[in-house]
Amino acid sequence: MMTEIKLLFASLLNDEEKIKEITHWLRVMDRPNGWHYDLDHVWILKELEKAGILPGSTILDAGAGQGIMQYLLASRGYNVISLDFSPRTPPPRSKGIFKIYGEGNVEISYHHPYMKFINFNSKQSEKLLNHLKWKKFKKLPELPGRIIRKINSYIQYLFERLFKNHMKYGTVRYLRAPFHDVPIESGSVDAVISVSAIEHSDIELFNDNIKSLSRLIKQGGLMLLTTSATEDKDNHYDEKVSGWCFSIDSLVSYFPGSTVDFDSKACSDSLLGSNVFMKRLDPYYYLDPNSPFYRKKFQKLPYLPVGIKLVK
Ligand SMILES: C[S@@+](CC[C@H](N)C(=O)[O-])C[C@H]1O[C@@H](n2cnc3c(N)ncnc32)[C@H](O)[C@@H]1O
Repeated sequence: MMTEIKLLFASLLNDEEKIKEITHWLRVMDRPNGWHYDLDHVWILKELEKAGILPGSTILDAGAGQGIMQYLLASRGYNVISLDFSPRTPPPRSKGIFKIYGEGNVEISYHHPYMKFINFNSKQSEKLLNHLKWKKFKKLPELPGRIIRKINSYIQYLFERLFKNHMKYGTVRYLRAPFHDVPIESGSVDAVISVSAIEHSDIELFNDNIKSLSRLIKQGGLMLLTTSATEDKDNHYDEKVSGWCFSIDSLVSYFPGSTVDFDSKACSDSLLGSNVFMKRLDPYYYLDPNSPFYRKKFQKLPYLPVGIKLVK
């Protein structure tokens, strides 16, 4: 196993083609964009291309949730195993575009508080969220912008559904299981990718999770994980997002012998100085007074975006 740990820099955002593709799927699936998700997505797509993992290959998305990566990969012709321990049903916007099979909603014996925190299935939680958002944003001049974005998103969805050829799209198989206990054969996938999920798992199981996910990869295949890091000496837990920020020392201890590129100042300078990064921040980040990006006046990133690549 060869491992590289690196911070994700703003230069990734210069890949206009990939940014366009990401925007398309955010709109089609009507998903918000996490502040570092463009970096995560572009980095993963570049690494898959570099490794020559071709359409038709099987990619497991670990902690896929409702994220767009699984759908973007399927649209590129990969067959995706969409793994998550939270119960899920396919989102309405996937209908008529993707062939989704498998089971995202079976009972499992493993339980973790995050399954309740995220709650993908509950109509009630969605209603509550919309209500809170509405309360918070109704006085703000941003509202017409939000309506226009909703309309654009629906138009793009209709365009994708009615006019795109889905014959070449790969399948998406939903699988409900925890990372440390995945009921599929060893060596059955070409790559494992994971967008911002490992930090929400039980930290005591970190090594078990990595071992279990690498078991699934064919010899020569790769694992690409994105996660959050801190410059501090110790890991810290962020209650608000229910997730860990890993210190560089602990990442190195999880992946002994890895090569590390961790210039945190250069990384945050690149992002804070990037017009593309600022332009692509979703409005809920700079409109929410509790957000670290409120009014786009911020000096420091809440945490550092990291990519971890393992070659088997
Ligand atoms: C922050 S969400 C990210 C979802 C998605 N990757 C995206 O890009 O939007 C983290 C996801 O990881 C899942 N998850 C966290 N720990 C897990 C574990 N140990 N086993 C399986 N799924 C896990 C959660 O249920 C959740 O869907």
